[in-house]
Amino acid sequence: MYRTHNCGELRAENAGQTVTLAGWVQRVRKMGGMSFIDLRDRYGITQLRVDDSTSEEVAAAAAKLGREYVIQATGIVEERQSKNAKIATGDIELKLTGLKILNEAQTPPFTIEDESDGGEDIRARYRYLDLRRNPLKNALMLRHRIAQEIRKYLDNEGFLEIETPFLIKSTPEGARDFVVPSRMNPGQFYALPQSPQTFKQLLMVAGYDRYFQIVRCFRDEDLRADRQPEFTQIDCEMSFVEQEDVLNTFEGMMRKLFKDVIGVEIPDPMPRMTWYDAMDNYGSDKPDIRFGMEIHEITPEAHGHNFSVFDDCEYVGAICVPGAAEYTRKQIDELTEWVKRPQVGAKGLVYIKYNADGSFKSSVDKFFSAEDLASIACAAQANPGDLMLVMCGAKRKAQTMLGVLRIEMGNRLGLRDPHNFAPLWVVDFPLLEWDDETQRFYAMHHPFTAPKPEHLDWFYSDKKEDLERVCANAYDFVLNGTELGGGSIRIHEAEVQKRMFEVLGISKEDAEIKFGFIINAFKFGAPPHGGLAFGFDRVCALFGGQETIRDFIAFPKNNMGRDVMLDAPSEIDDSQMEELALKSTVVKNG
Ligand code: AMO
Repeated sequence: MYRTHNCGELRAENAGQTVTLAGWVQRVRKMGGMSFIDLRDRYGITQLRVDDSTSEEVAAAAAKLGREYVIQATGIVEERQSKNAKIATGDIELKLTGLKILNEAQTPPFTIEDESDGGEDIRARYRYLDLRRNPLKNALMLRHRIAQEIRKYLDNEGFLEIETPFLIKSTPEGARDFVVPSRMNPGQFYALPQSPQTFKQLLMVAGYDRYFQIVRCFRDEDLRADRQPEFTQIDCEMSFVEQEDVLNTFEGMMRKLFKDVIGVEIPDPMPRMTWYDAMDNYGSDKPDIRFGMEIHEITPEAHGHNFSVFDDCEYVGAICVPGAAEYTRKQIDELTEWVKRPQVGAKGLVYIKYNADGSFKSSVDKFFSAEDLASIACAAQANPGDLMLVMCGAKRKAQTMLGVLRIEMGNRLGLRDPHNFAPLWVVDFPLLEWDDETQRFYAMHHPFTAPKPEHLDWFYSDKKEDLERVCANAYDFVLNGTELGGGSIRIHEAEVQKRMFEVLGISKEDAEIKFGFIINAFKFGAPPHGGLAFGFDRVCALFGGQETIRDFIAFPKNNMGRDVMLDAPSEIDDSQMEELALKSTVVKNG
């Protein structure tokens, strides 16, 4: 037996017991004739003491210890003279009577402390060492807890956990697929699933009624703080349900998670907002509703003052930044540069200061009288002391830019406390999204999302403006400005599915090749069904008070999609290439 207890377990009540612990040496401190060793394992840290009563043999072994050595330590639990209230075992220490070095360790390339001195890259290369640090350990423990609670909840609700394949034909989720060449079928490729979307629908056709899976998904897309090329979904589907049933079931799941995992009560019922309101008022389909500063349209007030920048635009909107009328020229110039960054994409920024004394000062004083500015302030619902920030353009584009600026101002004003949680459902998404560049419609969620029954006439119309008006019973679970999950009621009739492919410009032949299996399945009695998927990594990160999901994944990729520990992706041998019937056209460096 390697140990009788773990390193987080011993308390004053254990005083006098002889125990054996095993773990890693966090730190050795020498103080006069004594030395103290902090021994660490997953459960905590226990202090070991070597003093002049320690046997020579044990003291000699202790003198050899370095950071991260793996040891087995036997000793007598004693109450400490000076207690450490910061750790759970801080009342006791172990007077060493036996010490065995189980494995030596090279000096780690960075300190294994809560605040490490290692940069991101080096820590990623030695991820297994980084994972020894408390912040990452706590993140993974939180992830485990959430996964267990999800399984408990869904099992209780009658959901079956069913696995689906990873080597599949591509599912159209909107991102690029990762592909895998098939040795047995030269020249052919599998795709890794962007989600198990079609499989879960087939499981409904098969009669499984309620399915879930905590499942890896793969998307070859540009990475951000909340995006990884492989990530995990809590993927769910239900039969014989309407939108309301799905929302209730998963609102219940999230409510339980919030309460049981982090002790947070969320509103019951959770707020709901239509996609249109979200876009109009927050410039985003994932609004952060923890703070105000909503967007207000001021087009009627802004037009007709010989200011062509406004006059030429479909839409003019503003946000009011409270207390910012005192911003200096320099601060406003900096904000103007900020909105011109490609991530925002604005051409410029108009400001109107609504001074505390009721007067106005703006960058458009030449075109707008104090009275005109007052009517804008009224439309924008500004208060004295506010700084109005105004942008214009095509309606949705301008709103989106204002939405990005709103979030930035929320950050700058400290209004986005990560431990304050404001979830909501965004509902009534448009079914389709027109893309000017390719001159075609795309599915806003995915091609299996059903149009609202009351919009079927528009759905079958050939007019672009009719199709643009079609809404779906689609919904997103949004938390603090992040889309945590999304789903929809699905198409379950082969005819409607066919029409959907037609609207998306997917030819009959293409639809047959790509989705023949699902169109066919719908001919054999598909029940009405719907579901959703949560981004599990995002749930974990937000519950942990972070926006970046990387620390909540044991072995994540970096921003270039690389695993720097494995050094993947990498080239493969010529023989492997040959076996897979592949030829590389990439010119290798050097
Ligand atoms: P969707 O594409 O909205 O829906 O994905 C569901 C949720 O998965 C998370 N997510 C990601 N998390 C980390 N990295 C990524 N690259 C990434 N991409 C998505 C988000 C998102 O809300 N099949 C549908 C669901 C359905 O209709 O049932 C789907 O995959 O939190």
